[in-house]
Formats: sequence, structure tokens, C-alpha cells
Amino acid sequence: MNFNATNGMEDMEDVSLFDDKLLKEVDFTQCSSTYNPPISPTDPGEDLLMRSLRLSDYDKGFMVLLKQLTVVGDVSREQFEARFNSMLSCKNGYYIVVIEDKTCNLVIGAATLAVEQKFIHECSSRGRVEDVVVDKKYRGRQLGKLLLDYLTLLSRHVGCYKVSLECKDPVVNFYSNFGFVKEEGQNYMCRRF
Ligand SMILES: CC(C)(COP(=O)(O)OP(=O)(O)OC[C@H]1O[C@@H](n2cnc3c(N)ncnc32)[C@H](O)[C@@H]1OP(=O)(O)O)[C@@H](O)C(=O)NCCC(=O)NCCS
Repeated sequence: MNFNATNGMEDMEDVSLFDDKLLKEVDFTQCSSTYNPPISPTDPGEDLLMRSLRLSDYDKGFMVLLKQLTVVGDVSREQFEARFNSMLSCKNGYYIVVIEDKTCNLVIGAATLAVEQKFIHECSSRGRVEDVVVDKKYRGRQLGKLLLDYLTLLSRHVGCYKVSLECKDPVVNFYSNFGFVKEEGQNYMCRRF
């Protein structure tokens, strides 16, 4: 990789976390939501581009956007690159989809599908949707819905037998729009360190 210390990532060969052809491959007509005006992963709206996370998104406000979701802390370019490459090396394990506003070259929406490989269910996989966020200025434009619908269809497309997520009370209704339900008898348990 060609890294120029003075210009940072601008001069660096860019890398995508997953192949953008997956945006076309997933049959978006299968999603149950309605869009008015109509938008889709390949056409998310004027001046917007939906695509895989790229290494260069460190310079396009990706980490700043995540701060609207939770504590991010100070993450250097080197740390970002190391984590990105680690995710990349887990082949078909991480699909981080972003929406870029091409007028300002900033990432304004993002969501993650993490795929966990299993032995059960005939060596199937389960998907986990994580870190869904749309920049405050862009909310209410169906972009959260677009990210969620896309990742839900993608999880099926890549062979997951189920997809799940954890969320706070205020967004339960948001996620229930996409067929996510609180399953009876199932409990989310967590131990924090
Ligand atoms: C939740 C979030 C991603 C929604 O993004 P958005 O782009 O504003 O959502 P959309 O415009 O696509 O809304 C889609 C639908 O969900 C509804 N919706 C949006 N936010 C909602 C919420 N918090 N609770 C319930 N419904 C909600 C909208 O009214 C809309 O309904 P409609 O299709 O009937 O018109 C965004 O508010 C956000 O980033 N919040 C902060 C981060 C966060 O809480 N993420 C979830 C972490 S678990």
C-alpha cells in the first residue's frame, strides 16, 4: 500500500470493506417497506451514494458520525486502519454500509452487519445488525430505513439463518418496522467490563 505521510489517506490506494457489487446483487424489490419518494441502495437520493465503508472514510467523517451513536474516543488513523484491515481479513464477516453526501464528501449514514459463522444449523451463520446511525441533519429522509432494509436483505443474501439486534427503548418501534420482534422466552444478557 502506498502511504504518503504528508497527504495522509488522500494518496493512499483506497480499499473497500466489501464488494460494492453486493449493492446491486441484493434484490431490493423483496423489501416490505414502502419509499416515498422512491429510493434504493443504488439510488439513495440526489447527491447521495450508498456503498461499502472504505479506508478513506476516516477522512470523510465516519468516526465523527459514530459519535452521534455512542462513545467513540480518540481513534488515530493508524488504529482505524489496523481495525479496518482486521475486519477485512475476516472474510465475509463484516459488512459496513455507508451513505456519502457527494456535495461535501462526508459520510452521513452508516450501519453494520456482522456475520458470525456457526456449526449449528448445518454450518449456517447468524447476522447481527449494529451501529445504525444517520447524521442529525439527514434524519427523516428514509435513510435509516434504507440502511436497515438493505442490511436485513443482505443478511439473508449472504446465508444467515437469522439476524438480530440490540437496541434501546426509544428505537424499538423503529426496528419493529423491519420485522424485528422481541422473542418470547428469549433474554438479552450482558456483562460489561
Ligand atoms: C434511528 C435512526 C437511525 C433513524 O434514521 P432516520 O433516517 O431518521 O429514519 P427514517 O427517516 O428512515 O425513518 C423511517 C421510519 O422510521 C420512523 N422512525 C424514525 N426514527 C424513529 C424512532 N426513533 N422511533 C420510531 N420510529 C422512528 C420514521 O417515522 C419513519 O416512519 P415511516 O416510514 O412510517 O415514515 C436515527 O434517528 C439515528 O441515527 N438515531 C441516533 C442513533 C440511534 O439511536 N441508532 C440506533 C441505535 S440502536
